[in-house]
Amino acid sequence: MTRIIRVDHSRLDEQLREAVEILRRGGLVVFPTETVYGLGADAYIPQAVEKIFRVKGRPQDNPLIVHISGMDMLHRVASEVPKAAYRAAEKLWPGPFTMVLPRGDVPPIVSAGLDTVAVRMPGHRVALRLIELLADPIAAPSANRSGRPSPTSAQHVVEDLYGLVDLILDDGETLYGVESTVVDFTTDPPTLLRPGPLTPEELMEILGTELEIPEYARGLGHTGVARSPGVKYRHYSPRAEVVLIEMDDYKDLGRLVERVMEELNHLQGRSVVILATDETRDRYMGLGVPVLSLGSRSDPYTIAKNLFAMLREADRLGAEFVLVEGVEERGIGLTIMNRLRKAASRRVSV
Ligand code: TXA
Ligand code: MG
Repeated sequence: MTRIIRVDHSRLDEQLREAVEILRRGGLVVFPTETVYGLGADAYIPQAVEKIFRVKGRPQDNPLIVHISGMDMLHRVASEVPKAAYRAAEKLWPGPFTMVLPRGDVPPIVSAGLDTVAVRMPGHRVALRLIELLADPIAAPSANRSGRPSPTSAQHVVEDLYGLVDLILDDGETLYGVESTVVDFTTDPPTLLRPGPLTPEELMEILGTELEIPEYARGLGHTGVARSPGVKYRHYSPRAEVVLIEMDDYKDLGRLVERVMEELNHLQGRSVVILATDETRDRYMGLGVPVLSLGSRSDPYTIAKNLFAMLREADRLGAEFVLVEGVEERGIGLTIMNRLRKAASRRVSV
């Protein structure tokens, strides 16, 4: 049985008491964060953490993020906090930012046996308060079935995990709609493992350091050994096949639209949904296929926020194929392209 509680901020502590009970018993609680919904277990109960892998269908070698509510917890879960990481924590926490550090006292299963641990202090009142009341860190991946788009609303969680978790705390849509930025501080300079709401440009400015940006952070085939196990799996995919149409720059949107239409022609007789942008959506009208807009190219944060919900919407519309327009790979655009490339079964360059 899955209980769903609509969060009422005026009696939050009372509502969270039930969630804390469940976590203490080794149960699973889905909670909102400012990025996406998380599927949480008490990080110190290995059997509970094991359940996370089971209900998500997550590969055993893909480690989880540990969520903390205070710096005291950081010093428990990490055995060592380099100065650069400490400064980053001071400036960016609570927030959509995750650091990989040498693992402290959390059970090995949390980190899938690695000697490092990913840690984040979320900037969402419900998430933070839940951890505080539990007084233990919460291990939580995104609350989707493995390989599916991350959930940005409780409805998405219901689609994937209803009946498999004990409680879902519903607090509406999440703020950023894409998962946290992950940076590995066990390397010098630190390595961007996964781009997120905080862009590399902002990070370098705030941290005052260089940042290594490997090919896989762009969602491209990784060179050498993947340091973040999560990068090797196909991700974020709706049931439909995603075809991503990319350009080096997006100055000539007419050419982009033409290429999308060419792909559409190849797919005659199949059910297709086009994921366009405000600037292009009208040009696809009258083709007899549903056209959704991710938002305006001048507001890429909104595109990031809509992305996963739109991929799920394409499924709801019964699409076999989704044709998606790429965006400029700058700032948050890097995050959008990382997610789209990982979701895509085929990429087309214009
Ligand atoms: O915004 C977020 O980060 C959300 C919310 C719930 O906090 N969580 C999330 O978790 O996206 P998940 O499990 O879907 O993604 C965690 C990513 C994976 O790519 C995983 O491989 C990587 O972080 N990761 C976790 N621990 C790691 C470690 N010790 N070393 C390298 N990568 C790690
Ligand atoms: Mg995930």
